[in-house]
Amino acid sequence: MNRIPRQMLVIFGASGDLTERKLIPAIFNLYKGKHLPKNFLVLGASRSDMTDEEFRTKVVRESPYLAEEAGREEKAFMEDFAGMLFYQDLGNSYEEGYDALAMRIDELNRENGTSGNYIFYLSTPPDVYEIIAKNLSAKGLADESEGWKRLIVEKPFGYNLASAKALNKGLHQYFNESQIYRIDHYLGKETVQNLLVTRFANSIFEPLWNRNYIHHIEITNAESVGVEKRGGYYDRSGALRDMFQNHLLQIVSLVVMEPPIGDQAEEIRNEKVKALKSLRIMKDEKTLYQNTIRGQYLASEVGGKRMKGYREEDGVDPESTTETYAAIKFFVDNWRWKDVPFYVRTAKRMPTKVTEVVVHFKSPHHHIFQGSGLRHKDNQLIIRIQPDEGILIKFGVKVPGQGFKVERANLDFYYSSLSETNIMTAYERLLLDAMQGDATLYARADEVEAAWEFVDPILTYWESGKDVKIYGYSAGVWGPRNADEIMEGDYTWRNPGANLADDPGFCVLQ
Ligand code: BG6
Repeated sequence: MNRIPRQMLVIFGASGDLTERKLIPAIFNLYKGKHLPKNFLVLGASRSDMTDEEFRTKVVRESPYLAEEAGREEKAFMEDFAGMLFYQDLGNSYEEGYDALAMRIDELNRENGTSGNYIFYLSTPPDVYEIIAKNLSAKGLADESEGWKRLIVEKPFGYNLASAKALNKGLHQYFNESQIYRIDHYLGKETVQNLLVTRFANSIFEPLWNRNYIHHIEITNAESVGVEKRGGYYDRSGALRDMFQNHLLQIVSLVVMEPPIGDQAEEIRNEKVKALKSLRIMKDEKTLYQNTIRGQYLASEVGGKRMKGYREEDGVDPESTTETYAAIKFFVDNWRWKDVPFYVRTAKRMPTKVTEVVVHFKSPHHHIFQGSGLRHKDNQLIIRIQPDEGILIKFGVKVPGQGFKVERANLDFYYSSLSETNIMTAYERLLLDAMQGDATLYARADEVEAAWEFVDPILTYWESGKDVKIYGYSAGVWGPRNADEIMEGDYTWRNPGANLADDPGFCVLQ
């Protein structure tokens, strides 16, 4: 691994949930794994009035997310880590407090020898991203003449195409594109990165990775949880904005893209943008009606326990028509993928938590084994992003005995079988990359805009189109009753279980 340069990480929104739940634990693991440079510190900044000590207590000493670690490690070790964290109160709003902040940064920089290398992590509501960037720039904190300056921006990046473009334009007034790191935590997942390796480090898949051999591609992202405590945010967002526009289209781009020239950030990102730009944008209402399904979960009982319906969740409008289920069928207009349907769905309150890509291959063009029982037993390559991470190939084998009866067998690989088990979490990996200036796993401005370009007409149609329906589904089932109608022919969604090799339709009643 490259040496990580000395630096300061300034987190805006440091009193919020993400800092405590994800960022500090990720930094702690990097510290424990000895990945951090000697001259390193974190400065939290937000609108809560806290001292350094109070901040340390909140995010380390009394954090439920580090409680297990604290129980395992020596107290002195935890205190050494806590000692690397500092806090600066910005006052009542993100519009003020920058004189004091700039002075604090300067002072900490001199005391700790961080060489003017700063990462500003924006973990705040998106409406203040530009305000923060502007104020940092006004204080000379975007200037790279002494040390580099980087800006990490959390999702959501825009609410639609117009606001994403406006945000890019706004940030570019103060920071160059090369300084901006748009985070998508799915890109930090090992298994998502492995899509690139599966495709481009092997010679057995790529020759088949096109319209000549692939019948269709199915991507499922299911969560068993509901909206939890985020009803207020989610009700204004919905599944399409929350998961599809970012995480799922990132996965799509890695499945669709052409081989990059090499593994450098721009080489990979250029191909991803090209891939996203080749998604066929759905323009007319008939196409949008036929190729999109939206649903919302209803109250139900699972294992004797009542599950709330979406409209009963805290922060959600009791008459809300926000989708918690979105399924989209689309095509990719390029040489490789012409006429191959892609089916992508994401939802909350499904029977299990699972994310996977299923490549369905065409059946052999000439059927030698008539009556073999092979019909609809297509070859499948299943790339499991989470959980039970791995890869499964389904192929036909002869059933022992007379004649040629064919059964489908599994060939599987599990990540858990690798001896190197210390897999970094997505936030660890992404933070480490940004610290090293590697933007490969971050989204570029044109990439985000290309994703919105595809999503925008669907959102507009769902918000104001004719005949738009939202279908109910009971919490704990695989979506609305008509979910399979989006599929061509008599194919259905593969409804996977928690384990990679579970047969479709498998479900555990808790
Ligand atoms: C977030 C969404 O980006 O991703 C959440 O806002 C969702 O609604 C989460 O639950 C899922 O992430 P993961 O890593 O648990 O699949």
